Amino acid sequence: MGGRILDFDTLGQLGDRLKGQLDFLDSHAILEMLEPRSRRLISGIEVLQETDSTNAYLMRQGALGRSGGQVCLAEMQTAGRGRRGKHWVSPFGANLYMSLLWRFERQPAAIGRLSLVSALAVADALTALGAQGIGLKWPNDIFWQSRKLGGILLESACGATGGDYVVIGIGVNVRMPESAGKSINQPWADLDAVLQGKAPSRNVLAVALLNAIVPAIESAGHEGVMHLQELWRRYDFTCGEIVELQTESGRQRGKALGVDNEGRLLLDVAGCQQAFTCGEVSL
Ligand code: BTN
Repeated sequence: MGGRILDFDTLGQLGDRLKGQLDFLDSHAILEMLEPRSRRLISGIEVLQETDSTNAYLMRQGALGRSGGQVCLAEMQTAGRGRRGKHWVSPFGANLYMSLLWRFERQPAAIGRLSLVSALAVADALTALGAQGIGLKWPNDIFWQSRKLGGILLESACGATGGDYVVIGIGVNVRMPESAGKSINQPWADLDAVLQGKAPSRNVLAVALLNAIVPAIESAGHEGVMHLQELWRRYDFTCGEIVELQTESGRQRGKALGVDNEGRLLLDVAGCQQAFTCGEVSL
């Protein structure tokens, strides 16, 4: 008797994780808890212990002809992808890394609009879980008190063999270990802090996100998106602020005016309203 069996401090990241509750992803539990509409639209849920990136995984599956509605979650990503080629910090068992492969019968007119629709669904789901003060930064950054809580990476392909498909990847910080958090190069938050230590299990979070995002993406393909401008305003924390937009053709500085119904960012640049389809906004 007597010797220390587990020394959390010397176990590093794993120790950080073990100090919290163990909460493994479970595809059956997720499937069971889904609302009937989402369940009907999902063709399968796969949980991987480790992958390079759940987005990269489903992009490969899409090219091989995998059907739409496939969901992939991973306990850990070794090459998690963020927007604009950035790395997404993805330690084991700590956060939610989830992607959805979707095929459209009729490709929606503006694929960029799907980014905003997905972000709105995530914001609605987090708010319904009790997270107050969720903010969105165009096109799909999820913030809480000016700190990054999550993000969405939408990738699309027009494969000769696989047809047209998109992969929507969602990353939400849930219980980010301090050690991993040190490698994030911007202020960040995790859901556990937002909910004062009461973040739900990642399975429950996955269900909440899927119940919001799957029907939203489905309707976006069929009916288009009504009132995007109005829906976005509820979470838009840059509206009225002076922002800088980095695009491929250079930098623009202007006052953010929200988005239009196409999902384009509206900026007042020297008294003239301009609409942008892509770029990176900073405050
Ligand atoms: C961003 O830069 O804000 C987008 C981050 C998206 C991260 C998620 S985690 C699940 C999926 N797989 C990835 O490699 N990226 C997305």
